[in-house]
Amino acid sequence: MKIRALLVGLVAVGLSAAAVAADPIVIKFSHVVAQDTPKGKAAEKFKELAEKYTSGAVKVEVYANSTLYKDKEEMEALQLGAVQLLAPSLAKFGPLGVREFEVFDLPYIFDGYEALNKVTQGPVGQQLLAKLEPKGIKGLAFWDNGFKSFSANSPIKKPEDLRGKKMRIQSSKVLEEQMREVKSLPQVMAFSEVYQALQTGVVDGTENPHSNLYTQKMHEVQKHMTLTDHGYLGYAVITNKKFWDGLPAEVRTQLDKAMAESTVYANQIAKEENDKALEGVRASGKTEIYTPTAEEKAAFKKALVPVHKKMESRIGADLIQSIYKETGFDPAKL
Ligand code: LMR
Repeated sequence: MKIRALLVGLVAVGLSAAAVAADPIVIKFSHVVAQDTPKGKAAEKFKELAEKYTSGAVKVEVYANSTLYKDKEEMEALQLGAVQLLAPSLAKFGPLGVREFEVFDLPYIFDGYEALNKVTQGPVGQQLLAKLEPKGIKGLAFWDNGFKSFSANSPIKKPEDLRGKKMRIQSSKVLEEQMREVKSLPQVMAFSEVYQALQTGVVDGTENPHSNLYTQKMHEVQKHMTLTDHGYLGYAVITNKKFWDGLPAEVRTQLDKAMAESTVYANQIAKEENDKALEGVRASGKTEIYTPTAEEKAAFKKALVPVHKKMESRIGADLIQSIYKETGFDPAKL
């Protein structure tokens, strides 16, 4: 009797009895950051909502901190169907052949979350997600993280202070060019390896939003950090298109709803989580946090914005222009 009542209730929320009675559909959601970050928390929120809205017809298993796959492997695993959901940083789509996502890595292209969200939550964002489909990938949402600071073991007050330093970057040609622009030596490395590389001196420094720096304890092995806000790091939530399209329609509807709400949540907590992480770094007393003056910030901008022009042929001049149009950024006004 109880089971019958439960089934009636579930049918009422839109799920067929068949969808509910079968074994749960397992969605593996793999990511590389700590659970206590904007992405980690949003993944948990998606799990909670997806399981609730499908009344258990879907089970979401979240694997944080590269426990299942590291950066490069996770993309392959998604395409092979070994994992169903990822939220890679927008800087990691180049190796997949979708270079346009590197537009988000252009230094200083967004002067805050408001400008960024005009792009990610608007038509340009939708057009970008559609570019993933020929790769067998469906883009579901953009999740925010935050704006990056440079860190190293010596002070960074001006672009010249980065000269000659080995700097860890994500796998983006725009980030590579950004580092070359200030004559530092970019080193592409998986996120899971950065702490150790900093600790052992394999690299001298890096760039991160504060939530990533703090939750990986990178501040314990970096004496200096400068609040340059020189670039953005955020995510595209992606799934295997064949898997997603093959879901029972009523299940997909509930998952779309769970994703939409998790996206609102992710983008609400991102700034707050990064601010809290910065306070955590400050409180640790291990890293000196430097706030550049307006003149110093202008010098970083002047040094790094030429990267936009240099990367035009890779990313597409039209795409860059369409972002300038949305955000009002004008490189001529520096
Ligand atoms: C990084 O590799 O630095 C970031 O992409 C990690 C992440 O997923 O935020």
